[in-house]
Order: sequence, then structure tokens, then C-alpha cells
Amino acid sequence: MAENSTLFSPYNMGKFNLSHRVVLAPMTRCRALKGIPNAALAEYYAQRSTPGGFLISEGTLISPTAPGFPHVPGIYSDEQVEAWRDVVDAVHAKGSIIFCQLWHVGRASHPVYQPGGAPPISSTSKPLSARWRILLPDGSYGVYPEPRALNTSEIPEIVQHYRQAAINAIRAGFDGIEIHGAHGYLIDQFLKDGINDRTDEYGGSLANRCRFLLQVVEAVVSAIGAERVAVRISPAIDHLDAIDSDPLGLGLAVVERLNSFQKKLGRKLIYLHVTQPRYTAYGQTESGRPGSEEEEAHLMQNLRKAYEGTFMCSGGFTRKLGMEAVAEGHADLVSYGRLFISNPDLVLRLKLNAPLTRYNRKTFYTQDPVIGYTDYPFMTKETEAKDPRARL
Ligand SMILES: Cc1cc2nc3c(=O)[nH]c(=O)nc-3n(C[C@H](O)[C@H](O)[C@H](O)COP(=O)(O)O)c2cc1C
Repeated sequence: MAENSTLFSPYNMGKFNLSHRVVLAPMTRCRALKGIPNAALAEYYAQRSTPGGFLISEGTLISPTAPGFPHVPGIYSDEQVEAWRDVVDAVHAKGSIIFCQLWHVGRASHPVYQPGGAPPISSTSKPLSARWRILLPDGSYGVYPEPRALNTSEIPEIVQHYRQAAINAIRAGFDGIEIHGAHGYLIDQFLKDGINDRTDEYGGSLANRCRFLLQVVEAVVSAIGAERVAVRISPAIDHLDAIDSDPLGLGLAVVERLNSFQKKLGRKLIYLHVTQPRYTAYGQTESGRPGSEEEEAHLMQNLRKAYEGTFMCSGGFTRKLGMEAVAEGHADLVSYGRLFISNPDLVLRLKLNAPLTRYNRKTFYTQDPVIGYTDYPFMTKETEAKDPRARL
């Protein structure tokens, strides 16, 4: 940790020289009609770009069995790769760096999203509990169906899909990729003992439950290099029933394995991104689990201390909490989600301590290319001109 670091001081992350620590968190926005990125995405990401800034794309599908939301972009077909190029170019033109988040939802899907109307795949054949409802393409909510547990022999093919998706992301011009191992989706369905009930080498012990993630990491790193690969986990987030009996133990087990992988390789992954349980994942509620502040600070700080590399936090960060996290060395980088939806110039607003626009939850997952997507206001030019700190 550099002394006197702030949310607005530069950070050297491998070959990337970041000018500040405010990161755009990956967020599914359902605007990539039929899975193909378009001009609206280019506009949205460009709006949120700053010179030396760092953006993470929305969860991006690695294969045709990966979706569980409407109109999520993919990165498995040539058409998708071509279409992403314009988005990435728009971000690069503004001086930002952009990673592609690689996503497979596993059982958090529905036959309507699956090739041939098949059941979704997972580590398990247990469905999600009735507490959760799936957003369907017509905007209604449905029941999560019973998934099909992958056979052991099928897993290498899924690992291969991650590898190919990473190669495709680099072809599309992305600066790197983030493996989405969080929030109850496919990789988390292997990691968590509240979901994974397998009896093969992918279930049971911590070593077995971490195996799928580690195989994905190795496959992707072998294809595009560790300096372009990041991992996101959320050991303490119970979104989509992703419960573990020992979140800290699981988080440390992942971290230890990433550390020894890095040691063996002689290179580091670009960063580890961990979601705070402060907010019961995203999207669902406004307030956190009461009384969990101390517990989560303990968890995050332990993971931060244990991980030998760049550490990014996410989840319920305000300006004040983000400033504190960096100043106290609890994180190198802080990713902002909802506030970045409604404040395209969030970096500047945080820097100036300017008022923030409130987000409208109703348009998080709608398809309009403008409303609730690219129509949130920027601070006026006059305000910027008056304040010398406005230059980033
Ligand atoms: C609309 C929406 C979509 C999201 N989609 C993703 C996603 O695709 N991948 C992911 O890892 N996290 C996703 N998240 C979680 C965010 O990355 C972030 O961790 C979360 O919003 C908490 O941060 P915040 O309190 O700053 O919003 C999403 C959150 C929101 C609000």
C-alpha cells in the first residue's frame, strides 16, 4: 500500500497506469438486443470513461448455454466480437481501460434462454428456492426450473468455453478479462457448499469445490497471460441461494490457491475483485443485513491481507467509504455500481464532492437504448469550469 493513497491518486496495475481508483463495476443492463453489442453500449461505456480510468463490462456470455437475462451480450460468435470492437474503441478513445467480464449463469436460467429449450446446467440438479424469480424476455418474472447437473466429463468443455471467450475478448480489443466467480452464478455454484452437492472431484472438500474456478483461471491465463486476467468472488454474498457454511474459509481457500498459482507461474493475476456483503447483492434491496458491518470488515480485511496482488472491493460504497477503504489500505481499487448507473461522470462528482443523481431501479434491466441508460445528466460545463479540481 502506497502511503497517503486516496481514491483519486494514481495506481499502477501491471502495465496499466490508472489515474484514479474509481472503477465501473460490471453491470448487466440488457441493452444488447439479441446478444449483440450496439451503439447504445458504445455511448454508455464512453460516457463513463475518463483518462486513465478503469471499466469492467457487464457480464458477457461465454457460450449459448450461458444466458439467464434478456438481451445480454455474448463473446462467443464472430458477430459479437466484431460488434464489441466499436464499444471498446469508444472507451479507448476516451482514454479508459476496459475488461470484459466472462459470465455463465449456470442454474440461474430458464429453458426459454437455453438452446433447444433444454434445462440449464449447473454443479447440481437442485433448483433455486422459490424466494427468487427469473426475469423473462417478455419482462415478466418466472420460476427457476430444475437444472441439469453437469457430468464430470462435460466440465472440460465448459472450461474451454471460458478460454475461447477470453481469446475472443482480446480479439475484440478488450484490455483483459474478469472471470465472474461471484453472486450465485455457475462458478459460485461450484464454490459454495450450500449449492454444490457433487460427489466427484468437483464437490465436497474445499479443494474440490475450488477446482472448477482454478481450471478456468489456468485455461484463460494459458491463453491470454496472467497480466490480463482478473477473478471476482463473493464468498459472503447469498444472492441466488449462494450460501456457504464458512464464507471466510472459502474466501481464504480461493485466495491461497490463487497465490500458489501465481507463485508457480512467476506472475500475478491483474487483480482480485471481492463483493462486500454490505448490500444483499445488488438490485434487490436498499439496505444491508443488519449487524453485518463488523463481520464483513473482518472478512474483507482478511482476504485483502491474504491476497498477494491488487485488491478491488465492491458493494455499497459511498464516497466516504471508498475514500476510507483506500486511505486505510483495505483496497487498492473500489468499484461502483448503482451510483455509476445514474452518474455517468461519477469520478468527477466524487472528486468534487458534488451532489449525486439518484438511480431509478425500474430501468436497470429494460431495453430502451436511452431511457435509464444514457440519459442520466452530466454536471454542467459551468460547474466544471469554475472548479479547478475538475480536471482529472
Ligand atoms: C443492475 C445491476 C446489474 C449487475 N450486474 C452484474 C454483473 O453482470 N456482474 C457482476 O459481477 N455484478 C453485477 N452487479 C453487481 C455490481 O457489480 C456491484 O457489485 C453491486 O451493484 C454493488 O455495488 P454498488 O453498491 O456500488 O451498486 C450488478 C448490479 C446491478 C445494480
